[in-house]
Amino acid sequence: MSIDITIPSQDLLRLIDASLNADYTSVRQISNRLASYAAGSAPEISKRIKLAIRRNGVPLRASGYSESLPTDPKSRSALIEEQAWPVCPIFLNEGLKKTFDSFVSSVKNYDLLLKNGLSGKMNLLMSGPPGTGKTLVAGHIASALGMPLYVVRLDSIISSLLGDTAKNIRSVFDFVPEKNGIIFLDEFDAIAKLRNDQHELGELKRVVNTLIQAIDALDDRAIVIAATNHSELLDRAIWRRFPYRMDFGKPDLELRNHLWNYFLFQDSGDATTISALAKISIDMTGADIESISLSARRIAIINDKRIDTQEIAIECMKASYNEFYINDSEAFNKKDICKLLNQKFLLNQAEILTIIKTSRQTLSTYLKE
Ligand SMILES: Nc1ncnc2c1ncn2[C@@H]1O[C@H](COP(=O)(O)OP(=O)(O)O)[C@@H](O)[C@H]1O
Ligand SMILES: [Mg+2]
Repeated sequence: MSIDITIPSQDLLRLIDASLNADYTSVRQISNRLASYAAGSAPEISKRIKLAIRRNGVPLRASGYSESLPTDPKSRSALIEEQAWPVCPIFLNEGLKKTFDSFVSSVKNYDLLLKNGLSGKMNLLMSGPPGTGKTLVAGHIASALGMPLYVVRLDSIISSLLGDTAKNIRSVFDFVPEKNGIIFLDEFDAIAKLRNDQHELGELKRVVNTLIQAIDALDDRAIVIAATNHSELLDRAIWRRFPYRMDFGKPDLELRNHLWNYFLFQDSGDATTISALAKISIDMTGADIESISLSARRIAIINDKRIDTQEIAIECMKASYNEFYINDSEAFNKKDICKLLNQKFLLNQAEILTIIKTSRQTLSTYLKE
């Protein structure tokens, strides 16, 4: 079936131009715009456009086109990589969402802020435990701004000779803003970890100083995002270069509700079941919830069965509560599990019944004992 959508002629011309020039960043930007034009009147087409961009997001290089990215002169390995915009949504708590929005709108309204003397460096530092969505957030910022995201490969930059390190840093910091891209220093603690490596302290200091100089020398409009699992390892001097901060923690109860609903039930879960799983998954990260969910869905598909929430609940309990340990299904004691769910994880009876296969009556007896 063919559906007509309206495309501004400017965009159509730019799209043709960009395609013929193998300028895939622009192809993606314009196509994204087309997808939003179509979202209202032809949501199906909008979805298909997005799918097409997504499908072709990563293998651009495989298609024979390679943008000449800066490389280390000795090892010839790339110093940066373009990271495709994410397809997975990001779930953030209120505070982080606020910083995210304020960062994005500050970039978008840069000129207005500048005119009123309120501009500043657009540098954002994210810190927090692994698997909480920092890398994902960087992708979402890039996509919200319609800019390519270049991940700096800190290993390639530093493993080279000292003189080359400075050169490498400079070439990255020259290249990315020229492409109107975002510099993303992911796993930024790698720099600080050099301290324990064979590298000398003096050498580390020089690397850090070169980085600081490079950040300072950037145009105020340039965007630098850094992410680290160990913010305490970062130099104070680096710290100060980042006026915007996002400190990630493990997801709270509300966030875990969203994560389960999305990853396990593709947004159509039953509220009681979701709430039960959210309560049990204390201390789990978004990445943990994603991996348990995907594996449960795979098992369900292969065996042509429904998702086994009881199995998932037990897995979460094991992860969240050390004292809780079940060897095998033989030793599985439903009564203990129900009591634990009620007393330790504060599930009400309705919540327990959605995930544990037992009758209302039996459950009442268990809980009274
Ligand atoms: N807050 C979140 N919202 C949505 N997905 C998340 C979230 N946290 C983690 N994930 C999932 O876990 C994956 C790993 O997260 P990632 O961004 O790499 O974490 P980090 O960079 O903090 O180690 C993501 O790609 C996403 O699928
Ligand atoms: Mg990461």
